[in-house]
Amino acid sequence: MNDEQLVEEATRIRERAYSRYSGYSVGAALVDERGNLHVGCNVENAAYPQGSCAETGAIAAMIASGGSRIVAIAIAGGSDRITTCSPCGGCRQRISEFADEDTRIIIIGDDDEWHSYGIDELLPHSFKLS
Ligand code: THU
Repeated sequence: MNDEQLVEEATRIRERAYSRYSGYSVGAALVDERGNLHVGCNVENAAYPQGSCAETGAIAAMIASGGSRIVAIAIAGGSDRITTCSPCGGCRQRISEFADEDTRIIIIGDDDEWHSYGIDELLPHSFKLS
């Protein structure tokens, strides 16, 4: 699965977001070390803190299916349309748990453009148990 396909999958799954409280819909699509695709979208809740992020859903799907490492993850978010959605701090930490040095974190911006970052760029000096 190439980056363009992952971008398409994140954009597609964003349509399924349950974002009635914020009006901000997010889709995440990742490919694991076996080449398998996993997707997630944000799922909000009337009790606001109980909502979950798109990345969280995609990571949970990967783990539940037996995958263990993120090769690449694409994130598409925005209100009326896709605008740059930089992953929240909590999701950076969640991604970091399953990311390697060369994991591509693809942030989709306006006009179908995207940029790929490494986890050390998005979460330098990250917390790890040693
Ligand atoms: N959200 C995500 O799904 N991922 C992020 O990285 C940032 C924020 C969701 C949470 C909430 O449902 C909505 O976007 C607005 O914050």
